[in-house]
Amino acid sequence: MNVLLTGGAGYIGTHTAVELLQAGHGVVVVDSLVNSHEEALRRVERITGREVAFHRVDCTDAEAMRGVFERHDIDAVIHLAGFKAVGESVEQPLRYYRNNLDALLTLCETMDAAGVRDLVLSSSATVYGDPRRVPIVEDAELSTTNPYGNTKLFAERILDDLATADPSWRIISLRYFNPIGAHPSGLIGEDPQGVPNNLFPYIAQVAAGRRERLSVYGDDYDTPDGTGVRDYLHVVDLANGHLAAVDHLADTPGHRVYNLGTGQGTSVMEGLHAFERATGSALPYTVTGRRPGDIAVCYADPTAASRDLGWKAELTVDDACRDAWRWQSGNPGGFAG
Ligand code: NAD
Ligand code: WQD
Repeated sequence: MNVLLTGGAGYIGTHTAVELLQAGHGVVVVDSLVNSHEEALRRVERITGREVAFHRVDCTDAEAMRGVFERHDIDAVIHLAGFKAVGESVEQPLRYYRNNLDALLTLCETMDAAGVRDLVLSSSATVYGDPRRVPIVEDAELSTTNPYGNTKLFAERILDDLATADPSWRIISLRYFNPIGAHPSGLIGEDPQGVPNNLFPYIAQVAAGRRERLSVYGDDYDTPDGTGVRDYLHVVDLANGHLAAVDHLADTPGHRVYNLGTGQGTSVMEGLHAFERATGSALPYTVTGRRPGDIAVCYADPTAASRDLGWKAELTVDDACRDAWRWQSGNPGGFAG
């Protein structure tokens, strides 16, 4: 199959490209490079020994998107392009709505005109808001707490309406829990711009000596050790979830949603200790106040993905820490460095 990855130069996109290429699929990438580097795609080519067709295009540019569909015979699209920083989305809501929703609408219009109606969307566990029950099942109540989360919820609703209006669309939205880790080659990994917002990239930079200490955002949650609990998923497992989704698009028409998570919760302190095992040294931290908008506990019920897509997470948080540390220590300046 020839698969177009929008946002394919980013963290999840590059790992997905590797798994698709290694499974024998062709990969075309569209990315504006607003939050990534072309070097990441060269590394994908190095890992796989195969070529990636790259177009530096913004998904909101309808004419350029049309050009990509004219140049390539695309069978399916995985739409990863978008902005993802929660705090930034609160400060710049219009920029987030414009980019994330315009990109989706332009992509779907272009696909429709080209007669390509097989689509996988990067959604997020953020659509569950503060969950009433864990593990979270796909038909749990949806709610959001910030503009970024709204863009994911609205994207899913747009795709519901599209699939209802035209049953020739086959769409899967994947609700990722917390992706971490890096490719085991150490050649690609997460490369956050500026101060990392997320736990594991921050810990990795503490381990590398780029940040002084981790701030643990609250130890008074109703959890076993008082710190927040999440479902951390190795990015290679997540990448393979996309492969499974693409392979199953043909099974049922309509729009379906699946959780991609491990089903296991890990606390902030457990995550920190796992990283310490990977580096072999103690990492400094201070407990500070809670981060506004944070929830106590969030982890997936991944049964539906296992049943329908034949996918389940195989790797552990320790595997992810080992691979993240290999990436971080081998590439201290990220792709630009
Ligand atoms: P990322 O920032 O590394 O990758 C996103 C890519 O999209 C970047 O390469 C960026 O340059 C590109 N991009 C952004 N807007 C674009 C546009 N208009 N046109 C073309 N390219 C554009 O992020 P990621 O972690 O790889 O996330 C990929 C997707 O998964 C995003 O949609 C994100 O919201 C979603 N997601 C991520 C997480 C996470 O924790 N990483 C969790 C749940 C969902
Ligand atoms: C995990 C835990 C923090 C940083 C966010 C988005 C979500 C999704 C993934 C895309 C929490 C604690 C963190 C730090 C800390 N993205 N923490 N010190 O909050 O689950 O999810 O990223 O869809 O939408 O909201 O992930 O990695 O930021 O935090 O103590 O410096 O680590 O309080 O308990 P989160 P995270």
